Amino acid sequence: MRKRFLIRAALGACVLAATPAFAETQLKIFVSSQHQPDVWRKELDAYEAKNPGVKVTIETGGNTSETQAQYLNTVMSAKDPNLDVLMLDVIRPAQYAAAGWTTHFPEKDLSVYLPAYAEANTIGGEAVALPAFADAMFLYYRKDLLDKYGIAPPKTWDELKAAAQKVAAGEGSAAADLQGLSFQGKAIEGAVCTFLLPYWSQGKQLVKDGKLDFDKEAAVRSLALWKSFVDDGVAKKNISEVATDDTRKEFQAGKVLFAINWSYAWKHFQGPESAVAGKVGVARLPALGSGEQSSCLGGWEFGVSAYSQHQDEAKKLAEYLSGQEVSKYMAVNGALLPTYASLYGDPDVLKSAPWFAEALPVVETARARPVTPRYNEVSEVIRTTVNAVLSGVSTPEEGAAQIESRLRRILR
Ligand code: GLC
Repeated sequence: MRKRFLIRAALGACVLAATPAFAETQLKIFVSSQHQPDVWRKELDAYEAKNPGVKVTIETGGNTSETQAQYLNTVMSAKDPNLDVLMLDVIRPAQYAAAGWTTHFPEKDLSVYLPAYAEANTIGGEAVALPAFADAMFLYYRKDLLDKYGIAPPKTWDELKAAAQKVAAGEGSAAADLQGLSFQGKAIEGAVCTFLLPYWSQGKQLVKDGKLDFDKEAAVRSLALWKSFVDDGVAKKNISEVATDDTRKEFQAGKVLFAINWSYAWKHFQGPESAVAGKVGVARLPALGSGEQSSCLGGWEFGVSAYSQHQDEAKKLAEYLSGQEVSKYMAVNGALLPTYASLYGDPDVLKSAPWFAEALPVVETARARPVTPRYNEVSEVIRTTVNAVLSGVSTPEEGAAQIESRLRRILR
């Protein structure tokens, strides 16, 4: 009798002792499918190894910023506790914070990151998300073709147009299907930047202290510039159907001289499936006339869902993934731009992505799209108008007037 009791007691103790190891915390992180989920997985494996009792699964979805936003908006509106950490496009933390969808990090000092990301993730004086990786728009060009014609990378849009025309004339029929310039004319998030690049280049801003600060003439000039590329045959006729990854694929297939794209494209251009590996240059985007060369700030952030049932663990994971070691790992293995300035001079980073040396000043001077909880509406107005002008439905003047009146109602 006593013996049986002792055995039971011993078994009970074993079960008790074993309990903590089995009380696993299951976390789920949403990662943009375009931004190296497989490489993030390796970092999560390392995290699990360092944190016994925590398991992290990745959920991916949507190939573009818009489709991801649609999905996440549905999940968060339903207060779904299923996702713990969310990778968010840099344009979204303000909206998520205003909706109460993310948990804040009141103690977190964001000054370790590039200033643009510290700013994008601070709302009301508090960190509302933590930087995952940096991004900006660049001008990719065919180095081999510019060298052949003795052309330097263009610093203005006029120079770019002249360069495209010179190469097209020189290449003759060999260039029959070579587009001069590919950019985003489809009504997608990237088209917001399409509009803003030449607009900003004229020294203008769109929003000041949360209110619209619109320069209509500058807007007309921006829209007219893009339309002129189509009318002059430098961009293809159906540019209004071109999305970010279309530009990437066409440039990669050797069908484009100049391409505007985000940093993710670079790795594809060097890959085994690329027709242009080793022939690609990267430069700052050109200016409008004598204006400033501007880029559009991109990037992705980690937010912690306010509906996560594992707040502490989720925050700990977000902090880890946003740390300098992981930023370096993702730069070396995933070609994602670091959010720490010092990593742009790191020998390991530069060995795997030499062009990051030139990327830092671009990221540092890139301009941010308006930070507002109503960004979705702002974006919709701009991108549909850019698309309407490029497809010939509206003139640049009509487009600028529409943007002004619609934004005025949103940003009152
Ligand atoms: C890139 C940028 C992001 C931007 C998106 C548009 O992923 O990092 O900020 O909104 O492209 O497609």
